Amino acid sequence: MSTDVISYFHQKADRYDEVDQQVYWRLSDELLWHTLTTTYLDDLPEDFTFLDAGGGTGRWTRRVLDAYPRSRGVLVDLSPDMLAVAETKRTGDRADRLELVRGDLGDLPEQVRGRRFDVIWNFHNVIGFLPDPGAVLTSLAGLLSDTGALVTLAPNRYHAVYFNLAVGRLEAARSAATTGVSTFTDDMPPLRLFSPDELIGLYGAAGCRVDLLTGFPSAVYPSRQETRLDGSSPAVVELLGDPEVFADVLAIEKKLALEPDLAARGNNIFIAGRRSAA
Ligand SMILES: C[S@@+](CC[C@H](N)C(=O)[O-])C[C@H]1O[C@@H](n2cnc3c(N)ncnc32)[C@H](O)[C@@H]1O
Repeated sequence: MSTDVISYFHQKADRYDEVDQQVYWRLSDELLWHTLTTTYLDDLPEDFTFLDAGGGTGRWTRRVLDAYPRSRGVLVDLSPDMLAVAETKRTGDRADRLELVRGDLGDLPEQVRGRRFDVIWNFHNVIGFLPDPGAVLTSLAGLLSDTGALVTLAPNRYHAVYFNLAVGRLEAARSAATTGVSTFTDDMPPLRLFSPDELIGLYGAAGCRVDLLTGFPSAVYPSRQETRLDGSSPAVVELLGDPEVFADVLAIEKKLALEPDLAARGNNIFIAGRRSAA
């Protein structure tokens, strides 16, 4: 499984950050940033520490280091190609506040074992690629500081069924519905998908009480083009290409994201929690 993941991201790494140019993903990223910052990062001490688990090319790490100039973090990833792109972001004032570690989250690298972090996140399919996501969430929870938060953005099984039917991938839709493992494109390795309840169960088993569960985007769904690194579907561009409409849709999504029921409808499920008191 890990060799499939490494070779998949070998092909994607160089152009992975081009996702920033796709208007659908800009909407999704703004929602994730808004939720992460207003709910967690803004309340932390200025010199907080973080672990970006499966941080890939460092898109989130860079944004956090720039917005919180006294924060420090570690990015762990399996893919040498994704890490090579992340390395290009270790510049200027970020250079000595970021450690990059090549390693498998299934067997925590020694550089992070025994350390404590104020916030640990894993964003965009990371736990879907893991053979045992529950075990990884448990070991990540063990790295949290006493008040630290574990934040996950995971692929929604129900959305995967809808999406695959919408693009004519019947077998992939069936697999998502019946086994909870599927793909969004023909070239990707099998991805484990999640329901809100399943994630709540994994957080409980990891010794974390959930304090936020939601999902987004839930009002605008991606099409086939949004599963590639470039291109956008005409309907999404027609809607979100106008900056005023983009701002309106973002406001609608932010409002909806306050409602826990949306977890089951979002393209991705956002779940966050802290270690339960012993
Ligand atoms: C879709 S990318 C997301 C990257 C980043 N979190 C983001 O949101 O931009 C998934 C990342 O998970 C990493 N990954 C998958 N399995 C992993 C594992 N077992 N240990 C560490 N990283 C892993 C991949 O190498 C890839 O960089």
